[in-house]
Amino acid sequence: MRLRVRNHVNPLSSGFDTFVGTPPVLPSDNTPLEVEIGCADAKFLFDRASNNPSGCYIGLEIREDLVDWVNHRAKELALPVQGVFCNANNHLTQLFPQESIRHVFLNFPDPWFKKKHHKRRMITHELAMDIYQCLKPQGYVWIQTDIWDVAMDAMDAFETLNIKRDSSYQMINQAGAWSFWKDADPYQAQSLRYVKCMRDGHDVWRIYYQKQTVT
Ligand SMILES: C[S@@+](CC[C@H](N)C(=O)[O-])C[C@H]1O[C@@H](n2cnc3c(N)ncnc32)[C@H](O)[C@@H]1O
Repeated sequence: MRLRVRNHVNPLSSGFDTFVGTPPVLPSDNTPLEVEIGCADAKFLFDRASNNPSGCYIGLEIREDLVDWVNHRAKELALPVQGVFCNANNHLTQLFPQESIRHVFLNFPDPWFKKKHHKRRMITHELAMDIYQCLKPQGYVWIQTDIWDVAMDAMDAFETLNIKRDSSYQMINQAGAWSFWKDADPYQAQSLRYVKCMRDGHDVWRIYYQKQTVT
């Protein structure tokens, strides 16, 4: 199957209000669940699954042709990766029960970095709250971007959850509050956009959070 990719789609289009994709098959046991939001070709998840084929890897993507390609590729490689066609901003909490996900990945989440497209950005306070709810206690969020404004918006969304929502919502920045992760890559997987950034010599900002449940 050839990978033919549609141009970016507008996530604010009313066509994305209702979930019309195929829901993911979730593990019924303790298999760790890892989810990439905006996975495109899911290269990152295929790397993860190759390194640890006993996990469950789900990529959410708003471009349906990419989702079809990911699912075809997963069958070809016999790896536990699933692509799900959805608008993650609308459907995350519909697709995953509370406290079900071990790791959420937001790799280069945004084609919408221009100011005029600000409303279309993926990482919002609402998405950060949805992610928090779906994460297991002590679950992780890993964010990578080469766009400074996107990195700042992402940090603001997660860093201020306890203020914007309530004090029980705490995400602990693993590098220290309002800081970027500079240590070794904890995931040993590379998305396509990451590979392109390295090839073109772009800086990549990384942010790493762990969910803390305050009782
Ligand atoms: C810049 S690409 C990065 C792809 C991949 N994560 C990587 O690092 O190579 C961002 C991806 O997010 C997808 N996307 C944007 N908004 C989305 C949304 N609301 N829900 C699901 N996917 C979305 C886009 O279609 C695109 O494939």
